[in-house]
Amino acid sequence: MLVLRSNPASPFVRKVRIVAALLNLDDRIETSNADTSDPADSLRTQNPLGKIPALILEDGEVLYDSAVIVEYLDALAGGGKVIPTEPRQRFRSLTRQALGDGICEAAVLLRYEVLWREPERRSEKWTTHQSDKIARALIASDKDPPEGLSDVGAVALACALGYLDLRFEGAWRAQHPKLIAWLNAFAEATPSFEATRLRE
Ligand code: BEZ
Repeated sequence: MLVLRSNPASPFVRKVRIVAALLNLDDRIETSNADTSDPADSLRTQNPLGKIPALILEDGEVLYDSAVIVEYLDALAGGGKVIPTEPRQRFRSLTRQALGDGICEAAVLLRYEVLWREPERRSEKWTTHQSDKIARALIASDKDPPEGLSDVGAVALACALGYLDLRFEGAWRAQHPKLIAWLNAFAEATPSFEATRLRE
């Protein structure tokens, strides 16, 4: 079995799990929760950055981060499945993955700011800097949503929107009805999206 060091709230873990389901590899992966804030968690010996997801292969080799894991799973499934091989489509798809991941990175930083920093030490400038990244990425995605629903760019965007729903009360929905329709279509085509949704 492959072991995925995880946290059920992580949008990056969710992306990997959805990709694994799309590739019919989910039976080969066991999830093992990791506590990224616990110095004693073996995660830090598996990934020196102490970040999830990390995928432990059968021979003990460890892969990170989520984009690398997705690439590995696609290769394991024969290649060209969730990451197109045709160069134009491939780099478009990978760039869309970077956009979705970038939304998640900014959103997770905003989340940590609230969880880990006392209100008087928070920087409005920094918070606005992160929020603006998300706002611009949503506008760009709204104007030009992913064409397909089963490549890594689509999965990354869906996980980003799902994370904004989970931690930011879906505030994005008020301004992006086109993206709501896109996400509904993605969810309908991709049962693992609902199956990996964290209910809190
Ligand atoms: C969260 O609880 O929002 C979270 C947990 C792990 C990774 C990223 C986000």
